[in-house]
Amino acid sequence: MSDLRDPMLNGRLTRDGIRIHAPEDFEGMRIAGRLAAEILDQVGPLVVPGATTAELDDFVRGRVEAAGAVSATIGYKGYQHASCISVNHVVCHGIPGEKVLAEGDILNIDVTVIVDGWFGDSSRMYAAGTAPRKAVRLMQVTHDALMRGIAAVRPGNTFGDIGAAIQAFAEGHRMSVVREFCGHGLGRVFHAPPNVLHFGRPGRGAVLEEGMFFTIEPMINLGRPETKVLADDWTAVTRDKSLSAQYEHAVGVTAEGCEIFTLSPQGLYDGAFRDG
Ligand code: MF3
Ligand code: CO
Ligand code: CO
Repeated sequence: MSDLRDPMLNGRLTRDGIRIHAPEDFEGMRIAGRLAAEILDQVGPLVVPGATTAELDDFVRGRVEAAGAVSATIGYKGYQHASCISVNHVVCHGIPGEKVLAEGDILNIDVTVIVDGWFGDSSRMYAAGTAPRKAVRLMQVTHDALMRGIAAVRPGNTFGDIGAAIQAFAEGHRMSVVREFCGHGLGRVFHAPPNVLHFGRPGRGAVLEEGMFFTIEPMINLGRPETKVLADDWTAVTRDKSLSAQYEHAVGVTAEGCEIFTLSPQGLYDGAFRDG
């Protein structure tokens, strides 16, 4: 007997419109998340002074194709690239191009792939050569802020708990949290409810339930939090031109806490800037 049910209808929606996925849906997210993370591992050695962001994007596109996967960003709202590459004071949605990386530049590479209909979305920071101390500190704090947010993911906690954990950590290091961009529900769609804010108050917002899939992707600035979008309608930058960093993981809520779908297969994402 064939199953005629629409797979999109698997699970149910909460009253906030958040999809509760079935246990068997985790495997699809694992596979998609692993591919995004693997590509982020592989692109690292190409991030050197003299490289262009277009070269990095070409590599990402090639890896997506070689895996037989689909880039979620090519054709998304008219975007034409397999990655977003956001250098120095670019907060997010930097467009790959002829920009040549200089010694000490820091950059976020954000990759979203579709494998068997499931979306894998992750981003990390890289440095071209040796980054200045303050930039290394910004990257460390941003990564650790993401992990504090992830540590708050468990059934019964709220989305406000996640945002509050990130905000308290970042502001405790005298850095600021970008307000205009947020994480999002993920699954068989790219951007689903809820908006996952990276600031907030404990106990506020929707209650987390087993089977929710979403991203957490804090953008943290060394200076003020305000951003603006450039005339290309994509590139978001800090208004005060201070450095900005971002890390993104896709997670699924489990009975115990959460599963991170986008951990580095090579274990590279953590500590990359700690020993230099
Ligand atoms: N990957 C981004 C996110 O984390 C979205 C990029 S959309 C694009 O949600 F069109 F700019 F690529
Ligand atoms: Co995302
Ligand atoms: Co992303």
